[in-house]
Amino acid sequence: GKGAAMVTAVARRLKAQRWEVDQTLASFVLTTEQLYQVRDRMRRELENGLRLETHTTASVKMLPTYVYNTPSGREHGNYLALDLGGTNFRVLVVKIRSGRRRSVRMYNKIYAIPLEIMQGTGEELFDHIVQCISDFLDYMGMKNTRLPLGFTFSFPCRQTGIDKGILVCWTKGFKATDCEGNNVVEMLRDAIKRKNEFDLDIVALVNDTVGTMMTCAYEDPRCEIGLIVGTGSNMCYMEEMRNIETAEGDEGRMCINTEWGGFGENRELDDVRTQFDREVDQGSLNVGKQIFEKMTSGMYLGEIVRQILIDLTRRGLLFRGHITERLKTPGIFETKFLSQIESDRLALLQVRSILQHLGLDSTCDDSIIVKEVCGTVSRRAAQLCGSGMAAIVEKIRENRGLDRLEITVGVDGTLYKLHPHFSSILKETVRQLAPKCDVSFILSEDGSGKGAALITAVARSICDRA
Ligand code: GLC
Repeated sequence: GKGAAMVTAVARRLKAQRWEVDQTLASFVLTTEQLYQVRDRMRRELENGLRLETHTTASVKMLPTYVYNTPSGREHGNYLALDLGGTNFRVLVVKIRSGRRRSVRMYNKIYAIPLEIMQGTGEELFDHIVQCISDFLDYMGMKNTRLPLGFTFSFPCRQTGIDKGILVCWTKGFKATDCEGNNVVEMLRDAIKRKNEFDLDIVALVNDTVGTMMTCAYEDPRCEIGLIVGTGSNMCYMEEMRNIETAEGDEGRMCINTEWGGFGENRELDDVRTQFDREVDQGSLNVGKQIFEKMTSGMYLGEIVRQILIDLTRRGLLFRGHITERLKTPGIFETKFLSQIESDRLALLQVRSILQHLGLDSTCDDSIIVKEVCGTVSRRAAQLCGSGMAAIVEKIRENRGLDRLEITVGVDGTLYKLHPHFSSILKETVRQLAPKCDVSFILSEDGSGKGAALITAVARSICDRA
């Protein structure tokens, strides 16, 4: 009868809609073959970044950090630490004890960095930082103590020593003028002089990946890799000095800040990227840069999701074909929302209420599709990180001439920590692509602060004798 015909018509329309959605998401599904390719191309760029004749053009910068050792556990003393480049700016006092009462205690305060300062002038940015330090020292009653300071500055810096580094380029949401090409430690020192209220002894410039590795290595000596999957995406590891042609010396090891977020800048990912990735890149502060980061980190995954949703809506497959102002607003899908939407314990009704909360009116079918879109985008991100990680552990295994490598990765970052599936997909990919390596992952507690203090201690050799 008529009713049955209508039901079939509806079913057919739904099927056609499904097909179109699946087609769109299919461009995000990577074959095993593609994952191997990503691993191998990453490996090639790692080598290029280390070599003298190729490092200027390599997309993975492989920056020497002048950190030669992981902590011994004998570090001690009181330190000041700054942490700039993640979600917040923080100032900390870190108290490290060695010996039988080994412990690390921290006191910190979080300060907002307003957008107009992130994207204003360099002087304004550093004056703001020094103002925050001043407030913190007042708060702690420590204006006259002159503690050694570790500065975690989570951007690519070309270092020529532990306490100097030239900012290569801003990444993530930062864009302050007159910083790129300058020594950021000097910029901080100048701002302290301008303020003329207190003196600080800046001992170490630290990338957050290195701080994370050091913090985890303090607990587990097998930790020789640091991974951040948060606002940005990056990794560091202990490399043999003899392989680092861009730093003096052949003995021992040095930690290399890979800056793998730049992978793809030489078009290595062109066959993996989609139209949505290109749109996200076009709308970013650094077009053409940090291509791998834009496919794998918290600052951009939500934007990829949003671009897909806009496209599906435009084609009448979602939200009844109605593109709202909300959906046109950049940055609405923060990591915490993606993580909530993908949580398995969440009923679809709750997905709808999250979308509602974001100002998006959805039907039940809509919420199913949104959840799938999120799952597809984050799965690809985790697999790409896993492929990159496989390249590194395989390199370390070969460096050391081992049949099997056992190694630990210290990890930090909101995407890794909050997302319900990211870490397991990442680990699974590493297992698959680096079968000769046993890789453990441990979470870092406050790697940027603690790590900066540990590196400062190591740099000053403030440790007990062996
Ligand atoms: C960006 C920065 C890098 C940092 C990472 C994680 O990729 O360039 O230095 O480690 O974000 O914060």
